[in-house]
This record gives sequence, C-alpha cells and structure tokens, in this order.
Amino acid sequence: MAKRQLVLAVDVGTTKVSALVGEGRQDNELAVLGIAATPVVGMRRGLVFEAERVALAIRDAVNRANSMASTDLSVAGVSVNGDHLKITPGQAKISLRTGSVRAEDLRLAIQKACQVKLPADHEVVQVIRRGVAVDGFRGVVDPVGMVGHRLEAEVFVVSGLGTVLRNLRRVVAMAGLTPVGFIAGARAAADGVLADDDRQLGVVLLDIGGGTTGVTIYRGGHLQHLGVVPIGGEAITADIAVGLGVVAAQAERLKLEYAHLGEADGGSVEVRTVNGQSVKRIEFGELQEILDARIEEWAGFVEDQLRLVEWAKGPAAGVVVTGGGALLKGMGPFLEARWGWPVRLGGPQGLQGLSDLSRSPGYSTVVGVARGLLATGMERGSRDLWSRVSLFITRMLR
Ligand SMILES: Nc1ncnc2c1ncn2[C@@H]1O[C@H](COP(=O)(O)OP(=O)(O)OP(=O)(O)O)[C@@H](O)[C@H]1O
Ligand SMILES: [Mg+2]
Repeated sequence: MAKRQLVLAVDVGTTKVSALVGEGRQDNELAVLGIAATPVVGMRRGLVFEAERVALAIRDAVNRANSMASTDLSVAGVSVNGDHLKITPGQAKISLRTGSVRAEDLRLAIQKACQVKLPADHEVVQVIRRGVAVDGFRGVVDPVGMVGHRLEAEVFVVSGLGTVLRNLRRVVAMAGLTPVGFIAGARAAADGVLADDDRQLGVVLLDIGGGTTGVTIYRGGHLQHLGVVPIGGEAITADIAVGLGVVAAQAERLKLEYAHLGEADGGSVEVRTVNGQSVKRIEFGELQEILDARIEEWAGFVEDQLRLVEWAKGPAAGVVVTGGGALLKGMGPFLEARWGWPVRLGGPQGLQGLSDLSRSPGYSTVVGVARGLLATGMERGSRDLWSRVSLFITRMLR
C-alpha cells in the first residue's frame, strides 16, 4: 500500500490559532482529516507578544486536530504574519553545461536568484518561484529534462524581521512542534482560496483578519505583489468599545450583529455600560460613524498596496475577500463601489474529507499552509525532507 501523505498545518492568527491535519490525495488534492481553532490572546497585529499563552493555544488547536484525525503529528508548516514581511525580487541565469536541465541546475539557478539584498535585520521566510525560462522561453512549468543552453530563474524572496521570526519559532517549539517550513500567511490564504483561473486572469486577494489584512496580487499566473496592512477587524471592535463606552465583548457583538458598511438605518439597541451597572441606548447612526472612519483608514492602507502594482486595467477576476473580517456586512458592495471591480467572498475551495467544517473564510490560511506543504512534498516522513526544507526555508542560502 502506498505511504500516506500526511501534513500538519498551523496558522497562528491574531485572534485564533488554527490547526489542520490533512492528507494528500491524487493530483495534490487535499483531504481534511482534522481541523480546529482555538482563540488566542497574546498576539498583536500578527506578532507574538505573550509566548506562553500563544504556545498553549497552538498546542490546544494541534491536539484537537490530531485527535479528530487519529494522528499524532508534530512536524508542522506554520504561517508567518505581520507588516514586517517584505518581498524582494531576484533573478539569475546559468549556462547548462550538459545541454539539458538537471534537477541540480534548477536548484542552483534558484539558489543564485535568491541571493538578494534583504532589508536590515531581515531573515528569509520563504522563496516563491515566479518563473523559469529555458533559452529565453518563459512560462516553463517544469524545466527538468528540457534541452537548452541557458536557464533563467526568477523568484520573490519573502523575508521578515529576525526577532519576530525567532519568537515565532520559539512559541512553536514551546508548543512541542518542529517547524518544517514557514509560509507567509497572505500567500497561504491565496493558496487556500484562489483557483488557477483567478491567478491567470488577475486577482486581488484580501485576507481580512483580526489584526492584519494580507494583500496578495496575481497576474498571468504569477504573484505580482504580497503585502500586509496592520489593521483588521479588531481595530473596529476597539473603536466601538472606546467610542460607545462598552466592554470589548459587547463591542464585538454589536459589530457582528448590527454593523453594516454603507447603511445607516435609524434603529437603536440597548446594551450594558462598561461597569455593567446601567443600560445604555446605542443609536445605529453612531455605530455607523465609528465604522466608516475606521474602514476609510483601512481602505486607504489597502490602496497604498494596490498602487505598488501597475494596472493597465483592473484585475479581470476581481477582488476576493476572505478571513473573518471579510464577513463584515456590506463589505462586498462597499469595495465594489469604491474600486469599480467585482468583489466576492472566498473561503477554502476544492477540499475533500471534512470539507464542510473547513469552509469558513477564517480557515483559508491554514488550508493554504497545508496545500503548500503538499506541493513542496513536505509531508511527514518525506525521504528528501531536509533537502526540500533547505530550499524552502532558505536561511541557509544567505
Ligand atoms: N460575521 C462577522 N462580521 C464581522 N466581522 C467578523 C465576523 N466574523 C468574524 N469577524 C471578525 O474577523 C476577525 C477575525 O478574523 P480571522 O479569524 O481571519 O483573524 P486571524 O487570522 O485570527 O487574524 P490575523 O489574520 O489578522 O492574524 C475578528 O476581528 C472578528 O471580529
Ligand atoms: Mg489570519
């Protein structure tokens, strides 16, 4: 019987840790065998601030996913988030002495392309292959075995602040896990949600989380941009709490139940005040004003990211919003009116196994991490695990 391809993926989000045990099926399809989310405190805007609490949440989510799947996996792929993440393009050209492309030629070309100058104090998180050309022919999917004289490789090196990455590695170890690779959360969310056609046509993926918004742009099948904005749904909740003088839990409930972008009706609702002693009437109009101000700021930050790509015309496949924050009522019509591009809500697609349980937009990132592990062959017990790890976490390449 063929060996099972099992992967453990962990998404350390600002509001929750998600863990997924998956199995690779035919054609790299992902079957979800176990999936769980544990609320976390101790993260801010995608970064670890309280190691113990984050480690506990990771352990809890992983234990639950493992027990659903009847597995005991502890080697995990882990998401990295935060606005410190940067992408740096790199390219390299090598000549092919044997007249054809061998696996080691490809590895060498990619290694050379990765030798970019990174921002100060940055470490490599992940290398994203953008394209390979043999004798100038671009768009080659797998060049190994092709005949030619010259091999060119183009990559994006995703890097992040060393201290942030060291702390993330530390909490992962404290949770009893061995990280097998790190994946930029924004990229993983795209892998969780987008279809090949979206990437080919051109698409903007917004992963609107609690503390961050990941912006990933694809065109012609390749990544064009990846960036992280340090604002997510928690900022709206915090504004509501301060603006209306209610506790965070009430502010969150008001947001989930009554906040609606672009729509202020004349209603009101009664809630308890911060000290819990008296009741306060909240006009929906007030809620609307708070919401509008924060969303305006958020949209401005996202637009700063969109401007980093040259647009002859908009993304043909439109904008896909995912992450828990994308569930804010009225988000789609608000962005459509603002940018004039079609907007749709996206969640994990094309899954086998526990697909119903995994469909929430909050799981897009963890699903993408699992897909990334399968695509790079980093399942448990993979024979050439370490050579792949070295390609993946290319810290060694520097
Ligand atoms: N129905 C809803 N309406 C509005 N906001 C929602 C809804 N459901 C969830 N949210 C918001 O989504 C946010 C959490 O999203 P998500 O789980 O994707 O974040 P995360 O991955 O933990 O954080 P990050 O990606 O920023 O690190 C919270 O701010 C929450 O209030
Ligand atoms: Mg997230």
